[in-house]
Amino acid sequence: PLTRFQVSEEFGFLLPDPLTELPVPYSPWMDMARELPQLITSHRLRSRVQQMPQLSTQHLRGREELHLAHLVLSFITMGYVWQEGEEGTVQVLPRNLAVPFWEVSQALGLPPILSHADFVLANWRRKDPNGPLEIENLDTIITLPGGESLRGFILVTLLVEKAAVPGIKAITQALGAVVQGDEETLHRALQELAGAVEAMSKALRRMHDYVDPEVFYSVIRIFLSGWKDNPAMAHGLIYEGVSPEPMAFSGGSAAQSTVLHAFDELLGIRHREDSAAFLRRMREYMPPAHRAFVEHIQGSVSLRQLVLSSGDARLRVAFNRCVLALADFRSYHITIVTKYISAAAARAKARLASAGKPPSALETKGTGGSHIFSFLKSIRDTTREGVISA
Ligand code: ALA
Repeated sequence: PLTRFQVSEEFGFLLPDPLTELPVPYSPWMDMARELPQLITSHRLRSRVQQMPQLSTQHLRGREELHLAHLVLSFITMGYVWQEGEEGTVQVLPRNLAVPFWEVSQALGLPPILSHADFVLANWRRKDPNGPLEIENLDTIITLPGGESLRGFILVTLLVEKAAVPGIKAITQALGAVVQGDEETLHRALQELAGAVEAMSKALRRMHDYVDPEVFYSVIRIFLSGWKDNPAMAHGLIYEGVSPEPMAFSGGSAAQSTVLHAFDELLGIRHREDSAAFLRRMREYMPPAHRAFVEHIQGSVSLRQLVLSSGDARLRVAFNRCVLALADFRSYHITIVTKYISAAAARAKARLASAGKPPSALETKGTGGSHIFSFLKSIRDTTREGVISA
């Protein structure tokens, strides 16, 4: 049942063992992508892109090659747009990049911008192919400026996705158990889910060990920024050769991860309208099969109703443990954001006299375009409201 939604028993929403090489004709993309941090910091990426041949996408075979092509082209695009910082943006993405990026995006049903599916889900490899999925044995495939902190940001996010896997499996078990009225299995599935959410919080904590807040705020963040709801790119971006009209797409955001959407739907969490609208929009940035998984959960019989009507205290306790674990995860996310965005922004300003000007267009917004704190606090609070009282 999970494979129908391109969800893996072993890797959850992560792309299982992503390809790291494209077919030979695509070496102009791959060579550039491998040098991306240096090309950007030395201000040479835009001219390299302008000299690049316009390649046909017709030699790309299968989902794996398409995902790698999307990953490569999305990173090159972010580098191209943000190479000169938020005051030196462009209005046009040149056709030799825009056209193939558009075609690959259409083939996958993904937006033509870097999303969580690129940044994390398709951007990992094992150093020792037989070794474990642990940070010491993991690396990214494509990077941007930000060195070890960028690597840490991507890989810690990946560890959160990995920690969610038993919870994703528990969803299908729980849904089956609801249909069967099998309260024993349901109870077990809920315990499993709560344990997974707790493990996700634990994984998220590793951010402190691997990501430097100053590097994250001053170097990394701009490359995740989009051209929708962003004052630095208020007019969107023209994809040359695709359409003469500028188009607006949101930047990368953890709200594009399918994990919490799936858990929210299973537990019947109802977010307030503005937050819910942003989350709904972020579903369009997921691989279509993952979005379909969320919709499948949403359309299934209500777990919440069953727990309410069963009157079984043990079920209610297990259900509430899931809800509270989810609220705690969201609280912890707010702590991380306070350190890596708010505190880091204040420090960057204090340093302003000595160093260059830090990016500021998204000081109070997430790279996905939401109003960070009101959004994160609202979804944390509505999660808590999902608790079923005795
Ligand atoms: N969405 C994260 C941010 O706002 C990456 O910085």
